[in-house]
Amino acid sequence: MKRTKIVDAVKGGDLIGQDVCVKGWVRTRRGNKHVQFVALNDGSTIKNLQIVFDMEKFDEESLKAITTGSSLCVIGKMVESMGKGQNCEVQAEKFEVYGTADPNTYPLQKKGHSLEFLRDIAHLRPRTNTFGAILRVRSILAYAIHKFFNEKGFFYLNTPLITASDCEGAGAMFQVTTLPLNNLPKTEDGDVDYSKDFFGKATALTVSGQLEGELGATALGAIYTFGPTFRAENSNTPRHLAEFWMIEPEMAFYDITDNMDLAEEFIKYCIKYALENARDDIEFLQQMYDNELISRLESVINNDFVRLTYTEGVKILMESGQKFEFPVYWGADLASEHERYLVEQHFKKPVILTDYPKEIKAFYMKQNEDEKTVRAMDVLFPKIGEIIGGSEREADYDKLMGRINELGIPMKDMWWYLDTRKFGTVPHSGFGLGFERLVLFVTGMANIRDVIAFPRFPGNAEF
Ligand code: 4AD
Ligand code: MG
Repeated sequence: MKRTKIVDAVKGGDLIGQDVCVKGWVRTRRGNKHVQFVALNDGSTIKNLQIVFDMEKFDEESLKAITTGSSLCVIGKMVESMGKGQNCEVQAEKFEVYGTADPNTYPLQKKGHSLEFLRDIAHLRPRTNTFGAILRVRSILAYAIHKFFNEKGFFYLNTPLITASDCEGAGAMFQVTTLPLNNLPKTEDGDVDYSKDFFGKATALTVSGQLEGELGATALGAIYTFGPTFRAENSNTPRHLAEFWMIEPEMAFYDITDNMDLAEEFIKYCIKYALENARDDIEFLQQMYDNELISRLESVINNDFVRLTYTEGVKILMESGQKFEFPVYWGADLASEHERYLVEQHFKKPVILTDYPKEIKAFYMKQNEDEKTVRAMDVLFPKIGEIIGGSEREADYDKLMGRINELGIPMKDMWWYLDTRKFGTVPHSGFGLGFERLVLFVTGMANIRDVIAFPRFPGNAEF
């Protein structure tokens, strides 16, 4: 008999009165001598399907293996339910236990485990209501991202994960090597001889696909990447991962205003899509973790983002009279407390901050006429702080080289990037959205380690 997924089974509908076959994992079993109720879940929805075992048809012994966490196949009749909490239920006629789960060792027994505890059993936490909901929301958001760019005529470009250039210039890269670490080949000067390494040079995992994205944009017009990025920064914060997913659109013929318009439209589209297509999961998360979740999501969709310069933003912060942990002055890199003050206290809306001091931004950003600031844009969100970082790019070869020389960036590995400015250079812009920060926002969770199935952070590469 063909299996019915529980997401379809719980709707009842035409299935009422029919025999169905359902499969899944047991969430709970309860009941008495006469009747036993099993809540079955197969991951296709937050909802459980109620299976009713009439104990006149089954003996107690045969049901012994049906414990929390065990896996089942059940065939039975779908009927309307008399009980509260569900429209329909299955009256079991036959069942098979695929796999048992010993109640003495299966860790997901009691309800209401802490998120910290669940992080230690990340291999099993997807079977909880919370992580089922989060992972479904994440998947739906990923689909929305591809759908948005596809509808806009952008092309999906896959940029390399192994690279010899440091896009952000932050130096926080994971080295990739096949050299024997206990017997490194050395040059005459005593340095490590990377010419003997796998790629013939020193390489690392990428921190951003942007530089290659620019090559794509200046050929295909508009591209986006969507892939893993790696940062070896030792930030043990609820907003940072060592391995995270980033979406990086890059567009020829876009200036910074076009870039801001796209970022705003994009993020609103994704949130709206999730609200429409992952409603049950978002409602569950709201009920469990964050009672303002849906109103916050709706307020982002329904309001224009505030746009102002870094200089104006810093002025507001300095005049706020607010005590911050990190001092704020013109030239300071804003911390998330500053970003959140602007968004949550001052404007009560998402903010796009532009024109940052060049010293705190990457080399590739378009330089403003004031010679102090660059055409950067950061999108700041309630509860998150920075969710997007981007800029108009410096399209002028001489100006770009000037900045590269100022910063002393080694150019031998960057020749290909400079060619975009030598041959048919055009104004262009792009940005990067941290996927997990978007998932954090949409799920209302507080820690980024809870919105990716198997998080990577300092001291942890389990699972
Ligand atoms: O601001 P960032 O460093 O910008 C770039 O990498 C540019 N190359 C993007 C571009 O213009 N194409 O990173 C972009 C976004 C941040 O706004 C943040 O949302 C996220 O990536 N991000 C992180 N997310 C999780 N963990 C980390 N360690 C992150 N670092 C950045
Ligand atoms: Mg940034």
